[in-house]
Amino acid sequence: MDALKVELGDRSYPIFIGENILTQSNIASFVSGKQVMIVSNETIAPLHLQALVDQLAGLQVDQVILPDGEQFKNLASVELIFDQLLEKRHNRTTTLIALGGGVVGDMTGFAAACYQRGVNFIQIPTTLLSQVDSSVGGKTGVNHPLGKNMVGAFYQPQVVVADIGFFSTLAKREVAAGISEVVKYGLIYDADFFVWLEENMQAIVNIDPQAMSYAVKRSCEIKAQVVAEDETEQGIRAWLNLGHTFGHAIETHQGYGNWLHGEAVAAGTIMALDLSCRLGWISEELLARTKAMFEIAGLPVLPPENMTEDDFIQLMSVDKKVLEGKIRLVLIKELGRAIVTDDFDHDLLKQTLAIAK
Ligand code: GLY
Repeated sequence: MDALKVELGDRSYPIFIGENILTQSNIASFVSGKQVMIVSNETIAPLHLQALVDQLAGLQVDQVILPDGEQFKNLASVELIFDQLLEKRHNRTTTLIALGGGVVGDMTGFAAACYQRGVNFIQIPTTLLSQVDSSVGGKTGVNHPLGKNMVGAFYQPQVVVADIGFFSTLAKREVAAGISEVVKYGLIYDADFFVWLEENMQAIVNIDPQAMSYAVKRSCEIKAQVVAEDETEQGIRAWLNLGHTFGHAIETHQGYGNWLHGEAVAAGTIMALDLSCRLGWISEELLARTKAMFEIAGLPVLPPENMTEDDFIQLMSVDKKVLEGKIRLVLIKELGRAIVTDDFDHDLLKQTLAIAK
């Protein structure tokens, strides 16, 4: 089992990574009170809930099982968590445990941030995407019909347990959706990791344990470093949103859950690289290499054909990075280095928005 640390002073916490480590990670030692509320979904609970409950003997363990899907990442679902917490008389010393993918993790963290003005929570991410990105760093929240992740809070967990054994029951489409976030770390931060990913992409798609462990570990190392430097996204943390401004627009336009987050990020990343290329910052070769990896993973490399330029502009204008009415984008300056900027030729952006036409 590998152990990393997110260094945030007295809110620092470990990330444990390995195969079949749920029983080794001593989850109960991160529960400070006597009550636990497990939040999971209808797909994950039948597969993995009992193994977690077995680790919590001697505690009051309650559960709320939500429907599965991005379309349920809303305040109504968070309210179901509050209903259970109150019905089962959970007090301020309770610990919420998220057992699921990014949707479960984001909503559980948000419920923990709000319940009785803040209680502890633990992340047990079960998808590739949630292990390499959303479970680490304390971004929590829900979607609004007018924009992705528009209601939320920064709120850090007590521990993250990233067990790659969960991937044996993960749908291929979900594995692919996590790969776009893994490739992101190479593009924005670590050129060597990008090259390693090119060499090992088929092994990752095949969920080879050694390749997958390294991919998750290196991604979490980079995420932990970036979050330690810039917890509330005043600077470098925004790099982690490569492809997300385009991607969030796609998810919102297509209806939450129709494109998986990671699929929309893949198409969005290609759009960000396309614009970086048009600006003369990166070569067509880097764009082609990234596309090739996404294609091996079965990820989309073009936005949906039914989205117009105006659809994009309208939806991208409610992005959280918008400043003084200007769309700001994460673009790539060179392999391993990103930039957040509103200083680009809007005619070039229009050409990028039209690449599927
Ligand atoms: N998923 C991007 C971030 O955590 O900042």
